Amino acid sequence: EKGGFDWFMRKEIFEQPQAIADTLLGRYNNRGELVLDEMRSISQEDLRRVNKIVIVACGTAYYAGMVAKYAIEHWTRVPCEVEVASEFRYRDPIIDPLTLCVTISQSGETADTLMAIRHARVQGAKVIAICNTNGATIPRESDAVIYTHAGPEIGVASTKGFLTQVAACYLLGLYLAQVRGMKYADEIRAVTDELGRTPQMIQQLLDNAQQVYDLARDLSSINDFIFLGRHVGYPVALEGALKLKEIAYQHAEGFAAGELKHGPIAIIEPGMPVFVIVPPQGRDQLHDKVVSNIQEVRARGARTIVLVEEDDADVEAYSNVIIRLPRVSTLLQPLVAAVPLQLFACELATLLGHDVDQPRNLAKSVTVE
Ligand code: BG6
Repeated sequence: EKGGFDWFMRKEIFEQPQAIADTLLGRYNNRGELVLDEMRSISQEDLRRVNKIVIVACGTAYYAGMVAKYAIEHWTRVPCEVEVASEFRYRDPIIDPLTLCVTISQSGETADTLMAIRHARVQGAKVIAICNTNGATIPRESDAVIYTHAGPEIGVASTKGFLTQVAACYLLGLYLAQVRGMKYADEIRAVTDELGRTPQMIQQLLDNAQQVYDLARDLSSINDFIFLGRHVGYPVALEGALKLKEIAYQHAEGFAAGELKHGPIAIIEPGMPVFVIVPPQGRDQLHDKVVSNIQEVRARGARTIVLVEEDDADVEAYSNVIIRLPRVSTLLQPLVAAVPLQLFACELATLLGHDVDQPRNLAKSVTVE
């Protein structure tokens, strides 16, 4: 049932091109408009009136939500907050009937997330669930749902769940922009066309898995890992670190690259691996700033593992290892950048002899608060 793979997790990582393609499938009508077919009790008028979006989720799904915030605010200009579900309800959040609550949950059964949406609904907010499990409690208790079509995810550490959540969030952001008249059909089409090309980009990265496996072998005696990213690369850095904690039981931290100088750079020691996700070239000054961060940690002896687009030559002098990413626009980069980090965690945990699918102390879905 693992289809020749040693772990469900590895199988699920390799299923991602198909999972993304399935999640994107059938989202257009014959007029070329984006359609989300389970908006149920949320009307287009409701979506036009929304003045705030609040995303609540846990764990990996929360990081998908962080990615979504960048895209949704950029495309819709609606203020968007993202919060871990366990913090949301107990701080008396400001929610009203003009708030759209978006909840993300692979299982659809996470208790913290369920409690958060119940709270949001009591305050009159409409709730859209992004979920991978048909008929689970969270989509049943929501006003609308966007199902990710990743297929069952067995490995406790989420992989295809994450990528399909990110893809579904993009669809939601584009749909909101369409309904609210913020973007023209051709602009939306351009993004969804690019989204449609991401499965083949992910496949390209999977075909190069051996490079990442070799890296895991080289770093198998290391116990501290740093991940840096900026903009949408920041949640990818957090997700890369979470994967290592979950299954390899190694200390790993993700930071916003710009925050490095405000503290984290003090912990850099010679030989410490620092993974850096570099934004595509040519967008604002983000790319150059992250390249400077690579130089800064390298100057302090870090071992730099740089994830960067394929024709970017700016990092070569400061990188110990370069992992090439297919060319993709900044907002969509998480769909490719997360993949080598998943492979790395899976391989490292395997080399360390851990049960990758059933990590200690963790459960696939946590149904207690
Ligand atoms: C955790 C799982 O407990 O729940 C994580 O170990 C997962 O992998 C998180 O990301 C949230 O789960 P769900 O099902 O709500 O997406």
